[in-house]
Amino acid sequence: MSGIIQLEKVGKTYKVGKLESKVLSDIDLNIAEGEYVSICGPSGSGKSTLLSIIGVLNGASEGRYLFEGQDITHMKSSEHARLRNRQFGFIFQAFNLSSEMTAAENVELPLTYRKEMGRKERRELVDSMLDKIGMSDFRDHVPAQLSGGQQQRIAIARALAGRPKVILADEPTGNLDSKAAAIVMDIFDRLNDEGTTICLVTHDPRSASKAKRQVHLFDGQIVDEPQAEEQSGGNGAGGESGGDDPSHLQAV
Ligand SMILES: Nc1ncnc2c1ncn2[C@@H]1O[C@H](COP(=O)(O)OP(=O)(O)OP(=O)(O)O)[C@@H](O)[C@H]1O
Ligand SMILES: [Mg+2]
Repeated sequence: MSGIIQLEKVGKTYKVGKLESKVLSDIDLNIAEGEYVSICGPSGSGKSTLLSIIGVLNGASEGRYLFEGQDITHMKSSEHARLRNRQFGFIFQAFNLSSEMTAAENVELPLTYRKEMGRKERRELVDSMLDKIGMSDFRDHVPAQLSGGQQQRIAIARALAGRPKVILADEPTGNLDSKAAAIVMDIFDRLNDEGTTICLVTHDPRSASKAKRQVHLFDGQIVDEPQAEEQSGGNGAGGESGGDDPSHLQAV
């Protein structure tokens, strides 16, 4: 079976000063179009790194990456940026909304990089995305005027506005109370029912169980069974790829 996302023997080594650390090795992962996969594992096991490689925010050090059957491993960075902007929607734990912009402006932002899209078309798309996640009434609010759950829904609308084939979510409910988290998980369910491929990184077994397939990482490798969470204290491992870096939104 060939998937929309195929990783073959992917490895990742980070170099910091003289120190090299191999954080992913021998990752073989095939995700079919329309699949809903969760990526679970202890803090530091490489989940965010793997998601950032899938979303072409970060390059693999070894192995091959095929997207829709095309080998994109050695594509030019401008082509990677284009792929990232067109095919992937990113959602992070720390919503990463621009505090100066209204909800509607935040959703519109990635569309402004699409040169072929006019202002009217952009506005219509923004309105339909806000409607889809039940946030039309809050279009003119800035993030500080919204609850965490509402901010995450805006971040989801922003990720969806470009009509990506794949949604990549890194601990999207990590900062939310259980009610807000349930709303976000319901939105993911609905999107997946509509055919969007979803990759969800989570520590939370309840969220993970919503996915139709669970991939378990341990020490940078895919393992068959969940391993004991030694320390599941959130995002302590420093590598929250994407973090405050808005490169997932940048120009193509
Ligand atoms: N940009 C980077 N430079 C150097 N090392 C990094 C970088 N990003 C991540 N790492 C290291 O790679 C390892 C895996 O980090 P990663 O963020 O992928 O883990 P994670 O499973 O997402 O953890 P958490 O659950 O805490 O978010 C960690 O040891 C981390 O310190
Ligand atoms: Mg992480």
